[in-house]
Amino acid sequence: MALTYFKRFRMEIDLNKVDFSRHRLPAGYRFVPWNPALIPTHAEAKYLSFRHEIDANVFSCLGDYEGCRRLMTEISRKEGFLPEATWLIAHLDGHESGAEWTRGQVESDALTFVGTVQGVEDRFGYGAIQNLGIVPDHRNCGLGGVLLLKALEGFRRAGLKRAYLEVTAQNDGAVRLYRRLGFVKARTVYKAVELMGVPVR
Ligand SMILES: CC(C)(COP(=O)(O)OP(=O)(O)OC[C@H]1O[C@@H](n2cnc3c(N)ncnc32)[C@H](O)[C@@H]1OP(=O)(O)O)[C@@H](O)C(=O)NCCC(=O)NCCS
Repeated sequence: MALTYFKRFRMEIDLNKVDFSRHRLPAGYRFVPWNPALIPTHAEAKYLSFRHEIDANVFSCLGDYEGCRRLMTEISRKEGFLPEATWLIAHLDGHESGAEWTRGQVESDALTFVGTVQGVEDRFGYGAIQNLGIVPDHRNCGLGGVLLLKALEGFRRAGLKRAYLEVTAQNDGAVRLYRRLGFVKARTVYKAVELMGVPVR
């Protein structure tokens, strides 16, 4: 069993300087607000987003569904958990117009959940983003950025002034996304992980 250190960046943002006008979803997608009954749905979206990614090595719970479910339950029970910064993105196959969804569409079996984010207020009054994830088939069309902005808007509505997240340094795409939205690197941290013969991607 080898101890490996993953370099991670803490990145921060001033919520007063965020341009929230850009957070429009493409047609066929909608935001779904927090509801405790959605723990399994968040867990599944998290699992499908993270299972083949570097962070599943850094946090082994992200590599299996039950681990994601436990993590979601823990996050939702935290004292600073913020429902207004916690969202899913749903996708309806074949619904490509920008029109409002009907009730039937909202409850349709053709609905899939393709993105998840959670927000927590820490003990210093910062908004902490937890595990932003978009499932692979729906990446690179703007959803990650829009979902993050939605969570940041929730922090601001809760009266918070600053937010942060941690990202594994090797996760270039995520680091680029955060920089583009205005996050700046505040410090570097190292996470020690015991890897049991798991290849590091
Ligand atoms: C990081 C992650 C959330 C980004 O999600 P995403 O939906 O792909 O993000 P976006 O679409 O907003 O941005 C990704 C890229 O698509 C591009 N893009 C955005 N809208 C686009 C569009 N309409 N057409 C073409 N490209 C577009 C962006 O410019 C960006 O390009 P870049 O990689 O060259 O910088 C996603 O890759 C993911 O879930 N990764 C695995 C989990 C993970 O590591 N999460 C981060 C933990 S800290």
